[in-house]
Amino acid sequence: MNDDLKEQLKAHAGLAALYEQAVAEIGQAATSAELEEARVRHLGRKSGLSQLLRSIPELPAEERPVVGKYGNRARTALEQALAARKHELEAGELTRRLAAEQADITLPGEPFPRGHLHLITQTQWEIEDFFAGLGYRIAEGPEVETSYYNFTALNTPEGHPARSLHDTFFIQDKPDVLLRTHTSPVQIRVMEKEDPPVYVIIPGRVYRRDSDATHTPMFHQVEGLAVDEHITMADLKGTLEAFAKHMFGAGREIRLRPHYFPFTEPSVEVDVSCMICGGAGCRSCKHSGWLEILGAGMVDPNVFGFVDYEPDEVTGFAFGMGVERIAMLKHGITDLRMFYDNDMRFINQF
Ligand code: PHE
Repeated sequence: MNDDLKEQLKAHAGLAALYEQAVAEIGQAATSAELEEARVRHLGRKSGLSQLLRSIPELPAEERPVVGKYGNRARTALEQALAARKHELEAGELTRRLAAEQADITLPGEPFPRGHLHLITQTQWEIEDFFAGLGYRIAEGPEVETSYYNFTALNTPEGHPARSLHDTFFIQDKPDVLLRTHTSPVQIRVMEKEDPPVYVIIPGRVYRRDSDATHTPMFHQVEGLAVDEHITMADLKGTLEAFAKHMFGAGREIRLRPHYFPFTEPSVEVDVSCMICGGAGCRSCKHSGWLEILGAGMVDPNVFGFVDYEPDEVTGFAFGMGVERIAMLKHGITDLRMFYDNDMRFINQF
């Protein structure tokens, strides 16, 4: 059609020139913006073509029918050319944009660093898991305690020398309120609420005014309490022996040494055979072959008196261990403060 039109336009040189020029510029427009400029220039109200079409009545008589006939065809043809070029340019622009914004979705993503539990938490959970497997339930209590639960109900009356054994943090202006020095007060809280039989494991933070390579002002304990009919010291020993083997290896032995705690009678300290030398004696166990891991004993009948348990009907044992100490022995860590320095070179080893 456009070739026909070109032939036909030869009948009017001015019209032909306008048309040729417009077709050329539409074809050369390299962007949508340039194309819009070409449209205004060649098809706008002030364009040569529009002016020519408007001036038909004033044209010489022989030009009038030619311009009238072919002028509008030229306009229609240019509008079509414009639309076609517009389509072309837009397609090209989209292709370029897609290429520029292309993302390779098969590339591996940025690795997101995954954290892990602190060794203290891992150790605490491992201890809890062992006792949970024996049917113990987990119990917790407040870190801010009263001296009744921390001392008195644990058979440690005012003026008792054991009260000063623990270097206690007292809450200012409230001599009766303190940061618990051990998890044992939760024994009392559990027995106040529940009737025997009781089998609980009590993890938590405790506080003492100590600070050196083997003591921090805050550390973690796990307490155990078993109260039932006919519980004996043999049950305590068997339970702790199974625990020591679970924690430190099947070849471990334990031994019980007489000790003193106000809330147990008899009381013992429990040692495990050294996991480094196997009991032969080395630097870690100070050549004794044994490492102390916890304190324990049979619940003192006086303690049952504070919680209205009947000492003629039930007996029980209790034990308490330091989580940091267990972790240090198990992993050969020599300075307790490593746990709290937050040095990732240390933390990431576990
Ligand atoms: N509460 C004692 C301590 O902190 C440990 C212990 C718990 C001893 C239970 C005997 C029975 O040293």
